[in-house]
Amino acid sequence: MSEKIHAIGFYKSLPISDPHSLEDVQLPAPAATGHDLLVKISAISVNPVDIATRKGATDQTDQPRILGFDAVGTVLQVGKAVTLFQPGDKVYYAGSYSRSGSYSELQLVDERIVALAPHKLTDPEAAAMPLTTLTAWEALFEQLGIDPDDNTNNSQKSILIINGAGGVGSVATQLAHWAGLHVYASASRNESKKWVLEHGADEVVDHHHDLVDEVRGLGKQNVDYILELNNLTGHWDEMVELIAPNGKMCSITSTQKPVDLTVLKRKRVTFAWEWMFTKSFYQTDDILSQHEILAKAAALFDAGILQTTLQQTLHGITAATLRKAHAQIEAGHTIGKIVITKN
Ligand SMILES: NC(=O)c1ccc[n+]([C@@H]2O[C@H](COP(=O)([O-])OP(=O)(O)OC[C@H]3O[C@@H](n4cnc5c(N)ncnc54)[C@H](OP(=O)(O)O)[C@@H]3O)[C@@H](O)[C@H]2O)c1
Repeated sequence: MSEKIHAIGFYKSLPISDPHSLEDVQLPAPAATGHDLLVKISAISVNPVDIATRKGATDQTDQPRILGFDAVGTVLQVGKAVTLFQPGDKVYYAGSYSRSGSYSELQLVDERIVALAPHKLTDPEAAAMPLTTLTAWEALFEQLGIDPDDNTNNSQKSILIINGAGGVGSVATQLAHWAGLHVYASASRNESKKWVLEHGADEVVDHHHDLVDEVRGLGKQNVDYILELNNLTGHWDEMVELIAPNGKMCSITSTQKPVDLTVLKRKRVTFAWEWMFTKSFYQTDDILSQHEILAKAAALFDAGILQTTLQQTLHGITAATLRKAHAQIEAGHTIGKIVITKN
């Protein structure tokens, strides 16, 4: 192993058209201790959180911030406390918001948020999946409290997924369908509408029209669950109107202004947040559940029950390629996932 490794980082927030917005850098090679694995990365994916973090950085730093919250790679070294993996294992993971990310030749990651990569997916197909799968799984089966094994009960229930064709929505529609729910998913263009129907949606509604009219136009008065994946403030009034009494709603997005939860009281509606990084950021007692979720998802990919949401593969994990991927995601029309392979 060389003493320096190649990574891609930024020192201050700049428009993505600026060549310094993401730069190729050299960093000291890390070593695995404790629960950490040292992973040699073969493919990564790019998520909106990468763009939000780059754009939201307020200070200039001396050390580059290395983004990247999805990876597939091979374990090179394990820390002394590691029990789940050994050198040579092919793994996939989303990683932690508080650590150096996957825009790098090598990465340290806690074994408790890692699983063996699905055997039947290629590296780019698998790299597309960890962050969005963890988000969708935790939102549906933890925060909304849907029991994935209770197909009989779930088949009586409906869910509206707002932004069904994006990275998270493309997995959420599949998982909700697998759990037995009747899935209304939103998409606005012919290709994104087609995509959601191919990824588990029963019905498609247009989020650029009034979602109340769209859902009721399909003969459905209220839905039992709503999963909001685009803009909570923008869709809040529609959600309040569409949710059924005793229903549950979950959002993964930020708000531009506070939402008024009192309007949910009469219907006795539960509102929950999902943040995929909570468990690793706060080192919660259930951190190992991210290993378990990714392992269960790998089995579903291998069984053909879940399909990868990989839509586009770029080649060469370099600053130039990453600037291109950031620019595409910033445009806000991504379907599925953009992956970058090492070669
Ligand atoms: N809390 C967490 O843990 C967590 C995890 C992952 C992501 N996120 C956040 O969740 C959001 C979604 O992430 P993602 O990766 O799924 O996004 P994405 O892939 O970038 O989403 C792109 C999609 O957004 C749709 N869209 C555009 N305008 C919309 C609108 N007004 N209403 C509904 N959908 C609209 C587009 O559909 P059309 O082209 O058909 O209009 C497009 O397919 C981002 O804000 C991200 O930062 C949070």
